[in-house]
Amino acid sequence: MKRTLLIGLMATALVVAFAMPSLAAGPEAPKDLEIKALPAMKATQAPVKFSHAKHGTVAKIECKECHHKLDKSPKDYKCSSAGCHDDGAVKQGEKSFYIAYHKPADAKSCLGCHKAKAKGPAKCTDCHPKAPGAAQ
Ligand code: HEC
Ligand code: HEC
Ligand code: HEC
Repeated sequence: MKRTLLIGLMATALVVAFAMPSLAAGPEAPKDLEIKALPAMKATQAPVKFSHAKHGTVAKIECKECHHKLDKSPKDYKCSSAGCHDDGAVKQGEKSFYIAYHKPADAKSCLGCHKAKAKGPAKCTDCHPKAPGAAQ
């Protein structure tokens, strides 16, 4: 009886020990998100809904396919972190907030991947549900 308990405890300790590194590796993907324009921008489009579950569990896309800076900055999951896609004033170049989501030839961006895979919405109003000009 005592022996079984000891083995049980040891097994539990092992499971916990092995689970630790993966827990420590990073935060969990938030469930449903609504992505908004930067505070400094005057939004011309409605905010965009994004589901980690549909992309990860259903479409089997790895975190790093989108969060492409994870190797260098493991805590950086925000597209518009300082020094990244944080320029709301321009529509060209890597610093552009707009280009992070709409670069047609880059599968890290929403539009680029949907086009490459021919899956997921590619029409403005499929992602921005209200008519252009209607903020919120
Ligand atoms: C696959 C989804 C997707 C599609 C399709 C899409 N967008 Fe976006 N767009 C986004 C995301 C995500 C953002 C960042 C969040 C935000 O600002 O609403 C964004 C932001 C923007 C912005 C900057 C923010 C603002 O409100 O001014 C503009 C302008 C824009 N989109 C225009 C367009 C236009 C025009 C089209 C069609 C040619 C389009 N988008 C298609 C996802 C998409
Ligand atoms: C298809 C693309 C995609 C995939 C795959 C993906 N994410 Fe995300 N994730 C996003 C987008 C877009 C955001 C919103 C970023 C923003 O607001 O700037 C986000 C936001 C996050 C945030 C919140 C960041 C913040 O500070 O607000 C975390 C944490 C996160 N993701 C973790 C993960 C993890 C862990 C995985 C893999 C299990 C993953 N993501 C897979 C696109 C993706
Ligand atoms: C690396 C590829 C990839 C990227 C990047 C990506 N998507 Fe997708 N997305 C997909 C695929 C594949 C599907 C189809 C999933 C399925 O089979 O239902 C999809 C489906 C969707 C759908 C329809 C399913 C749903 O959630 O209702 C929406 C909306 C969507 N994506 C929004 C976005 C937005 C917004 C971004 C950028 C912030 C983005 N996606 C980035 C690959 C991608």
